[in-house]
Amino acid sequence: MSLESIKLEIRELLAKRKGVLLAHNYMRDEVQEIADITGDSLALSMEAAKTDAEVIVFCGVHFMAESASILAPDKTVLLPRLDAGCPMADMVTVEGLRELKAKHPGVPVVTYVNSSAAVKAESDICCTSANAMKVVQSLPDQEIIFVPDRNLGSYVAKFTSKKFHLWEGYCPTHERLRPEAVQKLKEQYPDAPFVCHPECNPTVVALADHVCSTTGMYDYVKKSSAKRIIIGTEAGILFRLKRENPDKEFILASPALICPNMKLTSLEDILEALQKMAPVVKVPEEIRVPAKRALDRMLAVPRD
Ligand code: 13P
Ligand code: SF4
Repeated sequence: MSLESIKLEIRELLAKRKGVLLAHNYMRDEVQEIADITGDSLALSMEAAKTDAEVIVFCGVHFMAESASILAPDKTVLLPRLDAGCPMADMVTVEGLRELKAKHPGVPVVTYVNSSAAVKAESDICCTSANAMKVVQSLPDQEIIFVPDRNLGSYVAKFTSKKFHLWEGYCPTHERLRPEAVQKLKEQYPDAPFVCHPECNPTVVALADHVCSTTGMYDYVKKSSAKRIIIGTEAGILFRLKRENPDKEFILASPALICPNMKLTSLEDILEALQKMAPVVKVPEEIRVPAKRALDRMLAVPRD
């Protein structure tokens, strides 16, 4: 079967099943190409919350499909590759978080959405890389427990006097970008600003001209007058950056910026998921309800 006929069949099945195809900005090019909506974790969660589609085909990783199931319990959420996980999300467990909470009684837990539904259910409020600062500012407390991303947590902590208790989690993909590689590129292309995701190591973030979520990067690049930009996040972002800015050149800060989990989902997997209406991700009610509270609280934080 040719790629074009697979794409056609996917679109036909989506129409038949009243489905919507959501794809994260790190997905393979051909997946982003046929998606109804591409976006960062925040945009896709909001889309899941408001869609009137009956089926959500989530092209991303497991925690994202869980968020969709939490926010849209009446919809069928399909994750074409059930094995697409997130190693950072797996770095924090419910037991570990409970232990940390016991050490700091009364301190609110801010949980990055890159976490399991069960961990969200143990949290006070969620955040994404796009709204972490606003979420932290929205809390009256002077102390914060922040899980699981120590890099995002320490980045946000720099902008507030609040005391942070950080979990030692990190994204192995972003962590692979080393400051030496960025320094070298900055010397090679002195006119090119360096923009990176806050999941990068603080030694890399310290070199950035701008730090933002993946969606923030599209906005930054669009507004920038630079002709060449060094990009410090997962390679999948280049697809739309190039398409939307054909006059600009993008330099991926390291060839190692590829998330193997984000690259798992193929067009064939999406087609098979729609044919079989499986694998379905469904969060059980006893976890969904408290996890939704933490996500809803995040979504209620004003964005501007
Ligand atoms: P966002 O821009 O969606 O926060 O992307 C970060 C990420 O790693 C998602 O897994
Ligand atoms: Fe997880 Fe990092 Fe991959 Fe995002 S890029 S899914 S944080 S491993």
